[in-house]
Amino acid sequence: MVSHGRAKHSRHESLVRAAIDSTADGILVIDVAGKVRLFNSQFCEMWKIHPEFLEGQDDNRLLEYVLSQLEDPAEFLERVRGLYAQPELESFDQIRFKDGRTIERLSKPQRVGSQIVGRVWSFRDVTQRKLAENALRQAIRVRDEFLSIASHELYTPIHSLMLALQMLSPTENHPPTPPDVAARMIDLAIRQVQRLAKLVGSLLDVTRVDAGTLKLAPETFDLGAVVAEVAERFAADLSRSGSELVLDLSRGIEGSWDRSRIEQVVTNLLSNAIKFGMGNPIEVSVRRVEEPTRACAVLHVIDHGIGIAPDQLRVVFERFVRAVPADHFGGLGLGLYVCRKIVEAHGGSLAAASRVGEGSTFTMFTMALPLTHRGDDQ
Ligand SMILES: Nc1ncnc2c1ncn2[C@@H]1O[C@H](COP(=O)(O)OP(=O)(O)O)[C@@H](O)[C@H]1O
Ligand SMILES: [Mg+2]
Repeated sequence: MVSHGRAKHSRHESLVRAAIDSTADGILVIDVAGKVRLFNSQFCEMWKIHPEFLEGQDDNRLLEYVLSQLEDPAEFLERVRGLYAQPELESFDQIRFKDGRTIERLSKPQRVGSQIVGRVWSFRDVTQRKLAENALRQAIRVRDEFLSIASHELYTPIHSLMLALQMLSPTENHPPTPPDVAARMIDLAIRQVQRLAKLVGSLLDVTRVDAGTLKLAPETFDLGAVVAEVAERFAADLSRSGSELVLDLSRGIEGSWDRSRIEQVVTNLLSNAIKFGMGNPIEVSVRRVEEPTRACAVLHVIDHGIGIAPDQLRVVFERFVRAVPADHFGGLGLGLYVCRKIVEAHGGSLAAASRVGEGSTFTMFTMALPLTHRGDDQ
């Protein structure tokens, strides 16, 4: 225990000092003449003050010493002066330090009987609590934003679906729809239902990933062949966006993977590349990389579109994160989150590199089966 205050003190005084040294708070007592009467080691640590400097110190000099540590020294000084001007006042507030700490400050008059003989200041470091509060606030903000985007995203296909069905349903003032229009409406309705199913599917996936119940059904397949199949499904989207798809798919790279989940990853990466690719060419490759102890399958999806800013790049794999304004691009910000979890569940990794205005590269690494595993029939 560190003992402070005047050099000689009674047993009673020692007990008091021992008691205040055994609290979590920094404590400082100033008498009516503005002199330091008592303090504990926590106070010295918090304010980075040597105990000898404090001994019998004048409060004004103490203030001068501590001000440089604060984010807003003027406000601090004003409050302290205000309290000394009105000795009977109590106060409770927070002080922010330049080094990022937040300290709660409680100040009360020290009374002996009815007489005020000084002022007691106690300080509590609440930095960790503050950080947790801020993280929580941020999480709530992200969730609220997500709810607003999700409801909008879900409503849009419902609205189109409703319109298509209304066109198909004959009413008094609207004769039966000609067959060619009806066929178009049915087509539209199917597309909207598919869109809804996709949105609900990603919500379900997030629930599964977060609950740790994402189940994999591994089978052995050729990654290049599956990527080629997925790519074919994007023919219409590619021609709409104007992006040319350049495939470089090595065949014979096999692994023990969940086929539909890997398809989902490739689908997501490719749809992002088309969505954010500004109509520029998109390159997709599958290669085999032999490492000393294992073989890896490496998938690259490269676009030359809008790219992702560095501060966004750090968080694009997080839940609900969208690095673009909602009114420009749709999407729930869940695709990459789910993709990374799927790849990690396979023991692999999914990473992104990007430059704003130049494009993005997404790379998936997963374990591949050794070449020798293939049977004689292959
Ligand atoms: N290829 C890409 N180019 C530029 N930005 C991208 C690309 N892929 C993803 N992003 C950014 O990352 C965010 C998250 O992507 P994702 O999780 O797939 O969600 P969503 O597509 O639903 O917005 C996107 O909103 C976008 O801002
Ligand atoms: Mg996406």
